[in-house]
Amino acid sequence: MVLVSGSGTNLQAILDAAADPAYGAEVVAVGADRHDIEGLRRAERHGVPTFVLRVPDFADRAAWDKALAEAVAGYQPDLVVLAGFMKLVGDDFMAAFGGRTVNTHPALSPSFPGMTGPKDALEYGVKVTGCTLFVVDAGVDTGPIVDQRAVPVLDDDDVESLHERIKTAEREMLVENVGRMAREGFTITDRKVRFTR
Ligand code: GRF
Repeated sequence: MVLVSGSGTNLQAILDAAADPAYGAEVVAVGADRHDIEGLRRAERHGVPTFVLRVPDFADRAAWDKALAEAVAGYQPDLVVLAGFMKLVGDDFMAAFGGRTVNTHPALSPSFPGMTGPKDALEYGVKVTGCTLFVVDAGVDTGPIVDQRAVPVLDDDDVESLHERIKTAEREMLVENVGRMAREGFTITDRKVRFTR
């Protein structure tokens, strides 16, 4: 199960990898928090079921979160991948899918948490940034780290060029690790994520 909010290039990388049965994971559905995004169109082109749950269509954030948890549960996924999903999930979602929901962050955690990782890295002046795959917990980009990739910051980078370089690394990281998580299983002990085999 993959949740998206935008262009869905990370989703596309997983869909492409999953076309090979040896990959070991299948995208059972794609959910989004908004309509009319390329991420949903990518899923539709692959014949993957989609659903949209918009926060403003619910009485409050908790009601949205409960509906999201129920919609995702309907597909009985082993793993939930937040791939550019621009909403924090809440208590109901975590109760159902905590420990088996992963997210990507376009910076090297614990640096530059939040929505503007590439911009913050550029403004700070770091020479190396990157991306982080982590298991979602109650914080913002704070969960146990599955993998990280380093990406150089070049002198003439702007936010867009840096983010694109990060996204290339992010897609590779995501595809490799989601496949391994599906094929091998994983444990989390004292914040350390280890593949089972
Ligand atoms: C990724 O860089 C993700 O980390 C960030 O938004 C981007 C999503 O890109 N939060 P896409 O929708 O997968 O193309």
